[in-house]
Amino acid sequence: MKLSPKIKKALNDQILLEASASNSYLAMATWCEVTGYQGAANYFYAQSDEERTHMLKIVHFLNDLGATATIPAIKAPVSSYKSLETLIKTALKNEQAVTKAIHKIVEMTQKEKDHSTYAFLEWFVNEQVQEETKFETILQKFDLLGRDKLGINEIDKYLASEATTTNEPAA
Ligand code: FEO
Repeated sequence: MKLSPKIKKALNDQILLEASASNSYLAMATWCEVTGYQGAANYFYAQSDEERTHMLKIVHFLNDLGATATIPAIKAPVSSYKSLETLIKTALKNEQAVTKAIHKIVEMTQKEKDHSTYAFLEWFVNEQVQEETKFETILQKFDLLGRDKLGINEIDKYLASEATTTNEPAA
């Protein structure tokens, strides 16, 4: 099967988005760690690793088709945040942008009747639903548990417990 140039470009662009997400979550983890939110730090270190695996999935998909993935340069991510809540809001916005991009490629594959890439992207569509829900759930916790030191401490503990649970859809 041969990818159309348009879909090949879109998938390469997606590599950049996933790599940028990985980098951005690494910067978030670092900020959390030095700020003293160890649970959140662990959570975002794991999240950064996850994004790298997403990127690799696309790299392998392209390479396996002989389309040769293009490994992009990544811009330096934002390195400091006003609060943990702002950071989580940024992460959710990130994910919403990634979801949009994935949906756009899915629409392209439908238009071009590229069933293989369509099937490949199904995993990403499901993953994005989970990722957005994860960050929405964390954001809710600020209303439920509060934004004072005790509340944030509880949220940090929650993030620590979530850092180890990998709830990615099966590959
Ligand atoms: Fe791979 Fe969270 O987008």
